[in-house]
Amino acid sequence: MSVTVSMIVNGKSVSAEVDPRTLLVDFLRVDQRLTGTHVGCDTSQCGACVVHVNGKSVKSCTMLAAQADGAEVATIESLAIDGQLHPMQEAFRQNHGLQCGFCTPGMIMSALDLVNVNSNPSEREIREWLEGNLCRCTGYHNIVKSIQAGAEAMSEV
Ligand code: FES
Ligand code: FES
Repeated sequence: MSVTVSMIVNGKSVSAEVDPRTLLVDFLRVDQRLTGTHVGCDTSQCGACVVHVNGKSVKSCTMLAAQADGAEVATIESLAIDGQLHPMQEAFRQNHGLQCGFCTPGMIMSALDLVNVNSNPSEREIREWLEGNLCRCTGYHNIVKSIQAGAEAMSEV
């Protein structure tokens, strides 16, 4: 048995027949070949899979593709335009907010959701917001710095 799911992914209408048990993260990575969204755990803890669904950050491993039917989904691939990094991506680059980079797509998509609701987050607010995003490389300090710098840069655009 399969179900048809249709959604807008990064501004493009997509539709596919999938197993009803297909997770949104697998739909994005396998069906849509958008491998910037990562899978770092099987316990919904790491946040490497965060995307935006209807403008809100969601762990895409916790949602079925069928539940996103009709939704607007944005992944990390939607951010850079014509090779120009988004200000939040540029801030991570400038502030050494990554090492291996595995957690980075999820960190950035979470950070953008935070900045959407709070354009000038404090260090404490950023640390609280990132409770669902794990990084095993950086010690978080430069991630927090990057998000502060990214929020500032976005407010200047
Ligand atoms: S893959 Fe770890 S929270 Fe989704
Ligand atoms: S940069 Fe390696 S897990 Fe965060």
